[in-house]
Amino acid sequence: MAVVLVGSSVPSGYATVAPRDWRYTVSSDVSASTPNSPAQPQGPAQPTALYGGQGTRRVTVRDIAAAKGRHEKWPMLTAYDALSARVFDEAGIPVLLVGDSAAMVVYGYDSTIPVTVDDLVPLAAAVVRGAKRAMVVADLPFGSYQASVPEALASATRFMKEANVQAIKVEGGRRILPQVEAMVAAGIPVMGHLGLTPQSVNAFGGYRVQGRGEDGERLLADAKALEAAGAFSVVLECVPDELARRVTAALSVPTIGIGAGEGTDAQVLVWQDMAGLTPHTAKFVKKYADLYSVLGDAAREYAEEVVAGTFPTPEYSYR
Ligand code: KIV
Repeated sequence: MAVVLVGSSVPSGYATVAPRDWRYTVSSDVSASTPNSPAQPQGPAQPTALYGGQGTRRVTVRDIAAAKGRHEKWPMLTAYDALSARVFDEAGIPVLLVGDSAAMVVYGYDSTIPVTVDDLVPLAAAVVRGAKRAMVVADLPFGSYQASVPEALASATRFMKEANVQAIKVEGGRRILPQVEAMVAAGIPVMGHLGLTPQSVNAFGGYRVQGRGEDGERLLADAKALEAAGAFSVVLECVPDELARRVTAALSVPTIGIGAGEGTDAQVLVWQDMAGLTPHTAKFVKKYADLYSVLGDAAREYAEEVVAGTFPTPEYSYR
């Protein structure tokens, strides 16, 4: 029967999973930010670390800001589906980014340019459903915000309403300030992105380190302008570590580095790069696992057993 087949395809972990051990925390002044909510029960004092404590609600921009005040470093990863989002959420990653890198790692394009709002909104919605505590940030893709303030507002609004994300990310500095200001004014938290902004790969003439020499001063000015426009954080991609340090010291909002050295407040990696699923990666990627081999070996073993008739055995069959 169809019902049996659908039920049996649900990952078994969902039926048996133990209560979650939320390993990151949140600021303790929830009632201050939600004046109409009932008073919070006075339990044991919450540890304050963004990563590594205990928390019971979704991470917010206030928690991100407080982490900078404590000089605390934190990790961000990309996610594009509910299951990986759940894994990272349970690992305590406090912020998940539905990057337009989905164009490459999900959709198979050779750059981030082709992906659309229609492509990304369902992925973002899946990540929000999979992650119960991480803040979920979605990238506005190329061509969905550069032309005008109304276009940016309309695109960001789709992510907020249809995917229920908590923030959006846009690439660029002073040239998109009106869009950033308008989104912030509309109540949409905005993460900036400077340096090697992949949506401009054709203008850069390839994926190259940015911000060397005088470009560094321009990037610093862009970062300050984004902060003044209300951005709650700024990604710095592929810039010299010395520049990333200067920007981090100059801003009161957190910087999130990718290929920007150790001086930023936070770090981000594309999860398939971090886990070793992508065969070729940039110098700045550290592979914490070898999923390419693990998955390939599993697929080969499964195939061999099917061909040999040793799977399924009675253990995996119904009587
Ligand atoms: O799209 C993406 O994944 C990103 C991160 C690499 C910062 O923008």
